[in-house]
Amino acid sequence: MITAGGDAASVYDSPAAFRAFIRGGGNIGLYEATSGALRELYRRHRPQRLLDIGTGDGMALLPALTEHRPAVGVVEPSAALLAETTAELTRRGIPHLAWPCTAQEFTATHTRRWDLVQSTFALQSLPEADKARVLRWIAAHTDRFVLVEFDVPEVASVWEPAWFRDCLARLERGLREYDGDRDLVGAGFILPVILGKFGTAAPTNYELAIDAWEALLREAGFAGIATRRLADYWWRPAFLVEAVTGAG
Ligand SMILES: C[S@@+](CC[C@H](N)C(=O)[O-])C[C@H]1O[C@@H](n2cnc3c(N)ncnc32)[C@H](O)[C@@H]1O
Repeated sequence: MITAGGDAASVYDSPAAFRAFIRGGGNIGLYEATSGALRELYRRHRPQRLLDIGTGDGMALLPALTEHRPAVGVVEPSAALLAETTAELTRRGIPHLAWPCTAQEFTATHTRRWDLVQSTFALQSLPEADKARVLRWIAAHTDRFVLVEFDVPEVASVWEPAWFRDCLARLERGLREYDGDRDLVGAGFILPVILGKFGTAAPTNYELAIDAWEALLREAGFAGIATRRLADYWWRPAFLVEAVTGAG
């Protein structure tokens, strides 16, 4: 799934299309792989305190909390999505704290340390300088960070014919994965986010190649970085990057 900042932030404010999008098509396998990998990380590292940045409605986080159950902190600017996550955490009796704000706002004021920090498909919403600032805060407040993002190679111009044709083909493949709710998902989420790439205003989306994420993590202070391909997906393949501050 692709996310965006700027204009496309509204796609999370009225989240019906986003909710339908992540519950259908290739997102089903993508989220199974993501939550499964997180569950395995919790089993291995047994964090007592877990922070999830850009949690959304908990689609990646909640299914991962079935075996090891740490206390959870969730940071999410969409009040509607955050409310869904906290309602489910409460229903399951999982101790949690919730902050209805952006990663930038949260990291500007918070000083608490966490055993594990994670972010799935959310930090791509941040412009480059904000990414660097937020990652520096994360490196200073945890020993272990798990990032899940798509590998999106940099392109000099989105109008470059080969890139443009490839983008259209991927878009068509993505839309075809939806049937009854194709209009809702297409008009309410996929198209606003993709078209944001072609606007004349500031970019609405700040995805990176995975090696660029790795470079940012090193600059932020992470010493050990392990990356693995998590799932194929119509937009781009998704990768899990595990970063530790010490030798790991
Ligand atoms: C594609 S969703 C991913 C949600 C969830 N992590 C998941 O895997 O399903 C991107 C999320 O990032 C959130 N987001 C957007 N801008 C953000 C920011 N500046 N700081 C933190 N989260 C942000 C959105 O509200 C949305 O919930």
